[in-house]
Amino acid sequence: MRMYDIIAKKRDGGELSYEELKFFIDGYCEGSIPDYQASALLMAIYLKGMSPKETTDLTVLMANSGECIDLSPIKGIKVDKHSTGGVGDKVTLIIAPIVAACGVPVAKMSGRGLGHTGGTIDKLESIPGFRTSLSREEFISNVQQIGICIAGQTSNLAPADKKLYALRDVTATVNSIPLIASSIMSKKIASGANKIVLDVKTGSGAFMKTLDESIALSKTMVEIGKRAGIETVAVITDMDMPLGNMIGNALEVKEALNTLKGRGPRDLETISFEIAARMLELAGKGDMEHCREEVRNAVYDGSALKKFAAMVRRQGGDSEIVNDENILGKAEFTQDIVSDRSGYIESIKTNLLGTASMVLGAGRETKDSEIDHLAGIVLHKKTGAKVERGEVIATLHTSNEEKLKEAESLLRDAYVISNRRPDTRSLILAFVNSTDVRKYADEI
Ligand code: URA
Repeated sequence: MRMYDIIAKKRDGGELSYEELKFFIDGYCEGSIPDYQASALLMAIYLKGMSPKETTDLTVLMANSGECIDLSPIKGIKVDKHSTGGVGDKVTLIIAPIVAACGVPVAKMSGRGLGHTGGTIDKLESIPGFRTSLSREEFISNVQQIGICIAGQTSNLAPADKKLYALRDVTATVNSIPLIASSIMSKKIASGANKIVLDVKTGSGAFMKTLDESIALSKTMVEIGKRAGIETVAVITDMDMPLGNMIGNALEVKEALNTLKGRGPRDLETISFEIAARMLELAGKGDMEHCREEVRNAVYDGSALKKFAAMVRRQGGDSEIVNDENILGKAEFTQDIVSDRSGYIESIKTNLLGTASMVLGAGRETKDSEIDHLAGIVLHKKTGAKVERGEVIATLHTSNEEKLKEAESLLRDAYVISNRRPDTRSLILAFVNSTDVRKYADEI
């Protein structure tokens, strides 16, 4: 077999066989296929697409390129959750303890943030003492003992995806549905869950800008799951403005705790509760109406918050944070941003807010950058809100005073204020499973 022929076949619109894809993945991982040939194949896939069979074969090959976690020592149906990424997305911190409090084991591997979106592991590491780097034995044992553990992904999880993602990033081939779907699903399959709920974000802060694109990506991932024997469903949710009112690691932990106390912002609560209910439904806990009720009970009777405290304690963190959020600390410098005109917040360029938060220190510009856990942004006004001239719309937090100016300029560019009150958007836009696509909103 020759890589040249595989590239030419895809360039001409052919369907690659399992053996050809295996030749590519094995050769690229061991270094016998150079970056220039891998890049050419990625571009051919970007332009010509892939059939469902090819996409599934590629996914499974990438999943098997490294360690696959065996969760079978944990009793019960293990349901994983994955978000395609957004700004202020702290849903995992909320749903994991809720689902565990409802009796469904949560054995979750999460990633770090890069660029304008944050990562769950960085958020958890803002809790003093919290350890995310666990041995496989400790990870499994924590779930067996208390029903929940969130740990960092092992470095050997789907290494083929890691290598290919870095190459896609510099060859303008990230935005391809088969490549995104296989990248996400390979890591999920290698993480060992029996079932998966995907939170596919749509809007200005997401990869997918329109509902139709999100539905197409969801259908591809649901189909991969089906072919790989892992039941997968997708909830398509709004990311046209940041989720909740806080962006940044410690700030997001505070907001997650408030939501677990039943005092969270409406958008964050609505989306988190829906995803948690879908996870319970997949775990066989009853129909959606019943599962939504279970989720609300776990929050309002305090059992989800207790689960969060138990997880923090078990992973070495200070569980007193659930009673006293001041333990998380506060950034040395804060600056209020006031509106220079009256009107309505017509829209928010969510990506720019993500970038502003990164500039303040909350995210990484390169994968080796240090994180400032206390940095971030508190939003006092979001899309649709009325604002008066001179009123505070947001507060910047950082340990590096020099960054405030650049972040302010990005934040001002992000807010579009006009005389027009914008139409409200639905938070839950659609649901996709292997038999059905249900749209809850019109085209956006
Ligand atoms: N997230 C991933 O893990 N991979 C992609 O390709 C895009 C988003």
